[in-house]
Formats: sequence, C-alpha cells, structure tokens
Amino acid sequence: MADSALLRIGKKEYTLPTLVGTEGEQALDIRALRKESSHITYDEGYGNTGSCESKVTFIDGEKGILRYRGYPIEQLAEHSSFVETAYLVIYGELPTKEQRARFSQLLRDNANIHERMLHLFEGYPRDAHPMAILSAMINSLGCYYPQMSTNDHRSDLEHFDEAAAITISKVRTIAACSYRMSQGLPMMYPKHDLGYCENFLHMMFSEPYHEYQASPEVSRALNLILLLHADHEQNCSTSTVRMVASSGANLFASTAAGICALWGPLHGGANVAVIRMLEEIHAAGDDGSRFIRDAKEGVAGKRLMGFGHRVYKNYDPRAKIIGKACEDMLKSLGREDPCLDIARHLEEAALNDEYFIERKLYPNVDFYSGIMMRAIGIPLTMFTVMFSIGRMPGWIANWKEVASNPKGRIYRPRQIYQGPAKRDYVPVDQRG
Ligand code: SDX
Repeated sequence: MADSALLRIGKKEYTLPTLVGTEGEQALDIRALRKESSHITYDEGYGNTGSCESKVTFIDGEKGILRYRGYPIEQLAEHSSFVETAYLVIYGELPTKEQRARFSQLLRDNANIHERMLHLFEGYPRDAHPMAILSAMINSLGCYYPQMSTNDHRSDLEHFDEAAAITISKVRTIAACSYRMSQGLPMMYPKHDLGYCENFLHMMFSEPYHEYQASPEVSRALNLILLLHADHEQNCSTSTVRMVASSGANLFASTAAGICALWGPLHGGANVAVIRMLEEIHAAGDDGSRFIRDAKEGVAGKRLMGFGHRVYKNYDPRAKIIGKACEDMLKSLGREDPCLDIARHLEEAALNDEYFIERKLYPNVDFYSGIMMRAIGIPLTMFTVMFSIGRMPGWIANWKEVASNPKGRIYRPRQIYQGPAKRDYVPVDQRG
C-alpha cells in the first residue's frame, strides 16, 4: 500500500498522503489540497468521499460483509439481542453480565415519557405521519433534560450514558404513543417487567382489559429486525447525525435530524415503498415480470424498491438473514403472505437479469423487512419508525464519536458555483 500519491495539475505536482483502515481500505488525504493547489474535489452524493474515521461499523460492499465493532452481523443475528447489540455499537464491547444488567435497568428506568409530553401529541392531526411526530418528540426530549442538551459537548458528554438510555428507551414509547393516538386509543404505559421488544409490543397492542402477550417467535423477529438495523456506517441519516453533531448540537437534536433523513423513500422509507410495490404487483395479477420490465425501461414510479445499494455491490447480508427469518416465521405461525412469494420471484428474476447483474443490484435490507414487520403485526405507517428505533444505537455511537473528538471540526463541504457571474442591481422600473 502506497503511503502517498502524486497528483499532477498542469505542470505542478502535489504529494497527497494516504490513509489506510483496519481492513485495508485506502484513502487519499486531501485536507491540504485546496490550500496547496487552489483545487477542491467534486463528488456529488459523496459516493467516493470519506467524511470521517470511525470505529463503529465496517462494510465491505463488494463482498457483502457487515460487522459491528468487528463482530460479523451473522453471528450477532444468531446469538445476540437488540439491547446487547445496542450496547456493543455504543460502547464498543459486548457487555459483561453486570454491564448488561445495568444497561437494561437504565432502559427500564427511562421507559416513561414526561406526562407533559403527552399533551404535545394532542396537537397533531390524527393522520399525522409518525416520522414527523417522532423527530419532533425526540428533539423535544432536550426540553425535559436541559442538563444533557446544553450544546456544549463537554458537558453533554458528562450525561452521555443517561442521555443514550433515555433516547433508546423513549424512542419506542414515543413511537407506540404516536400509533395509539392515530388510532384514537389511550396511551399504554410501559411495564417494568417486560423486555425491550416485548414492552414496545405491549405499548402498541395491549388494550385496557386485554394485555398483549408477544409470542417467542414475534419477540425474536422484532429483536432481529432492530438488531440488523442498529448501524450501517456513513449512510444518509447517520451522516446527517454527524453533520448536526459537528456544530456542537446535543444528542436529541442530532438524532432527530437523523430521523428526518431516514424518512425519505430512497433510504429508510424504502421498506414502505417495497410493500406498496409488492401489493401493486399482486393486485395487477403480475408475477413481477411486467414490473421488472418497466423498472428496466426506467418507467416512472417503477423502480424496484428494496433493490440496489450505494455500497453493497453484492447481496446485502441483512437481506439474506431477514429473508430466511421471514420464511421461518411465517411457517412457524402457519401463515402465508403472497408478497413473500412475489418478492422471492422478483429476486430470482432480477438476479438473473443482465440489467441488474450489470449494475450489481441486489436485494437490500428493506426488501424483506416489511414482510417480516407485517407478519409481526406492525402497521405499514410505522415501518420507517421501526427502522428509526433500530438505528438509534448507531446514531448515538456516531454522535459520541463526533462529540468526543477534541480536534473535531464543523462539517462544511465546499461547492462549485455555477450561478450568474457578477452583475449590478437593476431598479424595478428598469426590469424587463
Ligand atoms: C437503505 O446507505 C446505506 O447504508 C443505507 C441503508 C442503511 O442501512 O442505512 O442500507 C438503508 O437506505 C437501503 C436502500 C433503500 N432504498 C431503496 O431500496 C430504494 C431503491 N434503490 C435505489 O433507489 C438505489 O439503488 C439507491 C438509492 C439505494 C442507491 O442509489 P445510487 O447508489 O445513487 O445508485 P443510482 O441511483 O446511481 O443507480 C445506479 C444505476 C442507475 O441506472 P443507470 O443510470 O446506470 O442506467 O442502477 C439503477 C439506476 O437507475 N438502479 C435501479 C435501482 N437502483 C439503482 N434500477 C432499478 N431498480 C432499482 N432499485
């Protein structure tokens, strides 16, 4: 691996140092480029730009590898739980029994939201999108915990453990509350004797006179979904969290911004778009072949949602795990879902089609996650909210990396200006 690169611009040459990551990824360090050569680099969408050095997650897109703090996602999916994986992603190590017990206790102690916060929900129209509510409420947590949202990272970091537990615990209470308000149901308070996922499902689905009991299959399925979403390197929403954190903003404001970024259909909103696509194909009596033909021809609104990825040019390992778990869960529940059959057919057809092969388009995490959430009973409007709950540990871990960096700089990319050249003001009566 070269320790520097030579860049020639016209007759001048510039030496660029290189950076090498733990797994041998290489980067040209261009931090001094503009000062020395008056050039910036241009990379719309940041597809080839490293914004930071991070120790949280490693992805090899060519090989379809995903590891949280060095642990392969396949092993965590098989042996771990969402809460344990959240601890790993945030603190960098798998917790000991004592650390796990302390972390779980912190989550239990922080499951309730402030009673005054309940009034905020009343201001929303009943059909308000839960992602709009979630981002507003997570940001509003800072109003109830001013000592953790001073926007001075040194002081906010003194309360980091509690702020992290508050965010991870309350995000599911707020999510469940937004769903129940939309259904005209009373808020269901968390119970101290339930696990993380079981408590969420209780808050979502229990009735005043009938307590919802999550079956082991459903609880395992929800744990798996949240665990597989826990972090994913510098994706759009995590980069947004880091961008906001870099200005000195507190954890609640930064993660609220991440929720907004995740909402888009090209990102976390894709899990909803996949189900809508599969239902449209099913309703049209299509087995997916017509849809794939339209997607290849670039017909508007016919993009194969849940397929393709900026980094994975191989099968998204999360999609492989969820696809199998989905099948097993439906079988164990004795249920069928025509969307799963269509999804399997789409996958089979696309993976053998030159258009998708040439563009290295494979199923991503969103392709099967919606079918699994539907089997659990999560309503479609809540799918991207579930992604937010799962991704919270990753956003928190990345916020902490920015906040703890003593040499951290505000994120401020440059641009190439393509607007009008200098011109003088024209009084309104002389304008054409
Ligand atoms: C997530 O970054 C992350 O890590 C995200 C995520 C995470 O965990 O945080 O993994 C979660 O967001 C997964 C992605 C969910 N989004 C979708 O499933 C939406 C559908 N996929 C695409 O819109 C697209 O693949 C993206 C947005 C995921 C990636 O977009 P890129 O990298 O900008 O790719 P592109 O749009 O430049 O596409 C390259 C080519 C184009 O064709 P040509 O112009 O070369 O002819 O591939 C085509 C695209 O038209 N293409 C697709 C396609 N995705 C890309 N064609 C049909 N169906 C698709 N899904």
